[in-house]
Amino acid sequence: MEIFKALVLCSLLLNFIVPGFHAFDTIAPGQSVKDNETLVSAEGTFEAGFFNFADPTNQYFGIWYKDISPRTFVWIANRDTPVGNSSGVLNVTDGGNLVILNVSGDIVWSSNTSTTAKKPVLQLLDTGNLVVKEESNPENLLWQSFYLPGDTLLPGMRIRSSMVSGTFTSLTSWRDSQEPGKGEYSYHIDTHGFPQVVITKGGKLLYRAGSWNGNILSGIPSETLYKDFNFSFVITEQEVSYGYELLNQSIVSRYMITLTGQIQRFILSDQTNNWQLFYSGPADRCDNYNVCGVNSNCDVDNSPTCECLQGFIPKSPENWNSQNWTDGCVRRVNLDCSNSDGFLKYQGLKLPDTSASWFDKSMNLKECESICLKNCSCTAYANLDIRDGGSGCLLWFNNIVDVRKLSSGGQDLYIRMAASELDHNKDLNKKKLAGILVGCTLFIIIMVILVVTIFRWKKLKKAGKNQIVSGKNHTDNTQKGEIDIPIFDFSTIANATSNFSIGNKLGEGGFGPVYKGTLSNSQDIAVKRLCNNSGQGPKEFINEVVLIANLQHRNLVKLLGCCIQEDERILIYEFMTNRSLDYFIFDEARKSLLHWPQRFQIICGIARGLLYLHEDSRLRIIHRDLKTSNILLDENMNPKISDFGLARTFGGDEVEGKTKRVVGTYGYISPEYAARGNFSVKSDVFSFGVIVLETVCGKKNREYFDDHDHGLLGHAWRLWCEEKSMELIDESLGEPIGLAEADVLRCIQIGLLCVQDRPEDRPDMSAVVLMLNGEKSLPRPREPAFYPHQSGSSSGNSKLQSTNEISISLLDAR
Ligand SMILES: *[C@@H]1O[C@H](CO)[C@@H](O)[C@H](O)[C@H]1NC(C)=O
Ligand SMILES: *[C@@H]1O[C@H](CO)[C@@H](O)[C@H](O)[C@H]1NC(C)=O
Ligand SMILES: *[C@@H]1O[C@H](CO)[C@@H](O)[C@H](O)[C@H]1NC(C)=O
Ligand SMILES: *[C@@H]1O[C@H](CO)[C@@H](O)[C@H](O)[C@H]1NC(C)=O
Ligand SMILES: *[C@@H]1O[C@H](CO)[C@@H](O)[C@H](O)[C@H]1NC(C)=O
Ligand SMILES: *[C@@H]1O[C@H](CO)[C@@H](O)[C@H](O)[C@H]1NC(C)=O
Ligand SMILES: *[C@@H]1O[C@H](CO)[C@@H](O)[C@H](O)[C@H]1NC(C)=O
Ligand SMILES: *[C@@H]1O[C@H](CO)[C@@H](O)[C@H](O)[C@H]1NC(C)=O
Ligand SMILES: *[C@@H]1O[C@H](CO)[C@@H](O)[C@H](O)[C@H]1NC(C)=O
Repeated sequence: MEIFKALVLCSLLLNFIVPGFHAFDTIAPGQSVKDNETLVSAEGTFEAGFFNFADPTNQYFGIWYKDISPRTFVWIANRDTPVGNSSGVLNVTDGGNLVILNVSGDIVWSSNTSTTAKKPVLQLLDTGNLVVKEESNPENLLWQSFYLPGDTLLPGMRIRSSMVSGTFTSLTSWRDSQEPGKGEYSYHIDTHGFPQVVITKGGKLLYRAGSWNGNILSGIPSETLYKDFNFSFVITEQEVSYGYELLNQSIVSRYMITLTGQIQRFILSDQTNNWQLFYSGPADRCDNYNVCGVNSNCDVDNSPTCECLQGFIPKSPENWNSQNWTDGCVRRVNLDCSNSDGFLKYQGLKLPDTSASWFDKSMNLKECESICLKNCSCTAYANLDIRDGGSGCLLWFNNIVDVRKLSSGGQDLYIRMAASELDHNKDLNKKKLAGILVGCTLFIIIMVILVVTIFRWKKLKKAGKNQIVSGKNHTDNTQKGEIDIPIFDFSTIANATSNFSIGNKLGEGGFGPVYKGTLSNSQDIAVKRLCNNSGQGPKEFINEVVLIANLQHRNLVKLLGCCIQEDERILIYEFMTNRSLDYFIFDEARKSLLHWPQRFQIICGIARGLLYLHEDSRLRIIHRDLKTSNILLDENMNPKISDFGLARTFGGDEVEGKTKRVVGTYGYISPEYAARGNFSVKSDVFSFGVIVLETVCGKKNREYFDDHDHGLLGHAWRLWCEEKSMELIDESLGEPIGLAEADVLRCIQIGLLCVQDRPEDRPDMSAVVLMLNGEKSLPRPREPAFYPHQSGSSSGNSKLQSTNEISISLLDAR
């Protein structure tokens, strides 16, 4: 008892004596906050004080959640003017001005409050708001940090734009993960026309979250209208503002703009005390501003994604057909500019860019239509507010810009048409029927021709060829020194695999099932029966296979030959006795068979194989579906990459750039490839990073969500920040790691570097190989890319999540 009392006394004393134990939420003039002292809000939710990142000569004063790790900043006062030394102080002046002074007593930041307050005090509230108020009149806030948002919007905070002066406050991205100064991305309200929320980069419009429809911003799928939030958009003569409140006070949530210009909402999981990504936008290709050009509609579920609005035709058909949408669409028939024009109704759309629109709150839809008809340049109208059956009027003039289909929600839009086009549209059904008839006839004719051709070709083949022929016969353009590729007879392969029997099936790979086979000379082979024929003719296919077969490296699976039978395409590979990496590391019983030295050798081998594909082979091959099940293991547990070059075969000869067809697997696919179809060697590096972390940890990234909200990547990042990376290591490794600890830490750091959000922040494979060998120093990773939680409702990724058992995820279903 005595001891207990003494302890209590001690801790009380400590609170008074040691500055680090400050726990006040308020200071008055004459008092100050220095380095190592903090303000803590009354209930301990937020904490404010000086801090620095790696560089101690850049000191900031900021606010963060007191009990959330890693430290999450919500506001920074002097984000653009760090104190050059750790001896900065924060003061309230007698007049109520908030200032940060450096060691020489110069003001580096000021709230510029110009009042003559009596007895002002500074207080950190439990909402995260830092306020200056009069002690005698606490309701009267002289200044508040909520009026000066940084990159984060907390509940109760608002972004505001003046309707008079054009000034606005915005969420502005940080410049870098350790540099909170104002970056290029801004999230704010554009007041031109009917106000709308936009993201700009250096002033250029990138994304419209859209205008307010009474419930929510019109560009956000309605599934994200979450019952726990009350969003509000307020337009007055002076000012327009946007913000939200929490309806359920036990939820902790923040909304922020990331380094890469995405707006993201996070909710704190009450089970794990980690942030869970709830919504993220822009979410897919169609969210990019005006991606399809004017007068068109973007639909991620369509292929091609862009389509002219009805009654419109591509302005430059040639460009349009080669998927260059820049020029957009034009009317097939010009408007009459008379009352005979009519309107065509579209449903489920994100309303067009409102920056050149006109609006009226009191009109109804009928009045809206008639006023639009009266002005020749008016091209579309819609309700302003969709609540209670709709009210108000919104008009667009001239071109219709940035329309997309929304996965849920979306609004009605009425687009003006010449009378003849409307009739045309009525006739369309009849015409469609006629079109179908003509189409069927053509199809039958083509089929007949095809069957005859195939029949002839088969006959030729039977007559002229024996069991194994040289690929040279088929590929006249192969270069000297290239190996020939044996072409197996279909019956040989069918015999070797007992007619592709289930018993011989090894698994389902990315591009089709794989079977074990045994040739008559008792050589074991792996047979990949490609599904989903890309429509390549036999000659192109063999050309492609010869290219793949010429990629030879000890860490790549060797291609032994191929087989073509009608539209069947089969690849024959060397057989790997120890199956694949996932077979070991994710299996409770088998994972203990792979000790750390072997895992490290496997990681190094994959890196070398990938480096060869990216840089050392004559072709630059981007794998595009790298994952643990594509890392095969031979009898000595040497890793060999499989399925390389196949994305090429399937995706055409894209070497780098954008694809309509995303090949990849949930958990391994990089964010830019999943969302926008952008792939490069750096998207492979991302997948490699995931494999490294999975190999160290022995758990799957995509199954990690149960316990950890940001998957394996977020978990690894958190442990790294807390300098507890060794906790990541697979428990079944059992034996003390000892001297190898440095290798483990190196692998984790390399893994984190490879999964950075921005491709340019990821190392290339030559750097990775040097880093693994310890021949290159390791930069500090930043926060990695996060996957939205699988039960979250981000529109753009829902498809990817639902196909997580299958390795080809076609974002654009054909
Ligand atoms: C700030 O606070 C310090 C310590 O309380 C004091 O010495 C200094 O005069 C104050 N400066 C201003 C401008 O109030
Ligand atoms: C703050 O604390 C750190 C570490 O405890 C120490 O190195 C530093 O000198 C302290 N700064 C001041 C101004 O007391
Ligand atoms: C304090 O700030 C002033 C103005 O920004 C600057 O000129 C001066 O060098 C700073 N002093 C120190 C010690 O950083
Ligand atoms: C940094 O602050 C210390 C006192 O804390 C001072 O002695 C030193 O001169 C300062 N350095 C610079 C570069 O301003
Ligand atoms: C205060 O005024 C200065 C000088 O006009 C300006 O640079 C600074 O950004 C202002 N501070 C705030 C918090 O607006
Ligand atoms: C939502 O916020 C608006 C404006 O701030 C308010 O009028 C309304 O009552 C709130 N709704 C709920 C359900 O709290
Ligand atoms: C509020 O949120 C908490 C935590 O998510 C949940 O347990 C509770 O049921 C919610 N309350 C209401 C009224 O929705
Ligand atoms: C697309 O078309 C526009 C206009 O014709 C042209 O300027 C642009 O270079 C084209 N873009 C590509 C990628 O071909
Ligand atoms: C039609 O609307 C546009 C845009 O508001 C306006 O500039 C133009 O004067 C209007 N024309 C007529 C005839 O009212």
